[in-house]
Amino acid sequence: MRAYLDWNATTPPRAEVLDAMREAAARAWANPSSVHGDGRAARAVVEDARAAVAELVGTDPRDVVLTSGGTEANNLALRSAFPREGAPAALVTSRLEHPSVSRVAEALEREGRARVRWLEVTAAGAIDLGDLDRALEEGAALVTVQAVNHETGVLAPVAEVIARAHAAGARVHVDAVQGWGKVAVPPGWDTASVAPHKMRGPKGIGALATRPGARIDPVLLGGAQEKGLRPGTVDAALAAGFGVAARIAARSAERWAALADLRDRIERELLAIEAPRGHARVAGDATRRAPHVSNLLWPGWIGAELVAALDLEGVSVSSGAACSAGTVEPSPVLFAMLGAADAARGVRVSIGDATTEDDASRAVRAFRAVLGR
Ligand SMILES: Cc1ncc(COP(=O)(O)O)c(C=O)c1O
Repeated sequence: MRAYLDWNATTPPRAEVLDAMREAAARAWANPSSVHGDGRAARAVVEDARAAVAELVGTDPRDVVLTSGGTEANNLALRSAFPREGAPAALVTSRLEHPSVSRVAEALEREGRARVRWLEVTAAGAIDLGDLDRALEEGAALVTVQAVNHETGVLAPVAEVIARAHAAGARVHVDAVQGWGKVAVPPGWDTASVAPHKMRGPKGIGALATRPGARIDPVLLGGAQEKGLRPGTVDAALAAGFGVAARIAARSAERWAALADLRDRIERELLAIEAPRGHARVAGDATRRAPHVSNLLWPGWIGAELVAALDLEGVSVSSGAACSAGTVEPSPVLFAMLGAADAARGVRVSIGDATTEDDASRAVRAFRAVLGR
């Protein structure tokens, strides 16, 4: 039996999600853009999912564009804020962001469409609001901020960012992929991303939600699906799973908050391990953190080595973002927070509402065995 403590990478789909997907795949397989009855049946499934996503994020279903996932939603949001024509305007962001934001920012700069203003980052894993004020005084077209950090779980001051950016006339994108269903994501953004595989739904689908009237420019060109903003045939089965996951996520923040007890127990026991090379410390502000994440650094250990050794003991955790795993590249997030010496040390433990006390015990035992070597 393995213990899966890597819920920030992805989450196990719920039984209700799989049931809805199976049912839609068998019944609503037609092209949702077809005007005949079969197409309309598939279309109804997609539109029901869109309504569920709109309700989760607090917008109108007409302002939900379905995408292939969180990465595409972030690409769409950032590129839409920097039209090709005109002088490059400022894009304000930080090195705490997921690569699907920071690498798009770098690309927009290379393409001459944006000037990136990287905000100062604190050792506690937050952006510096004073520096945000300075950046806004210099003038900005877009501020992009994540709701919950994917590596440390630290909550960004989203409401403050929105208030300050809007007062300065800048648009705000919130990468809330790690937030929905887990913490309250503040309203008022211009665009926000959703990825159902982070909330017990399917992979391969996601959404960009917008406030009414926010301009979106398609990244892909093709047919008229999603009002031409995201061409390509939509899969009603994925949409059905997305809809069910969104409806459950909309009422799960309280259940998620209760995970803090289990996370704190795991963290306490890991911090107490008498490892020969020394005790761990926690990365990120423990007082402003999502309830299910803990990122720990052990002296003398590279995170990826610890993760590989724990894997052999049947425990799944992660070092840095899953998308950069396989390479021992230091984490840009930990680099921005703590500097080069600690940037490859992080081990992320992230749990969810199917994690048991037994999983926790098994994981702690494995950490003890590996760290004792
Ligand atoms: C904060 C954040 N944004 C965006 C993404 C990308 O989402 P997806 O995997 O759906 O493309 C992730 C996934 O790890 C993430 O953690």
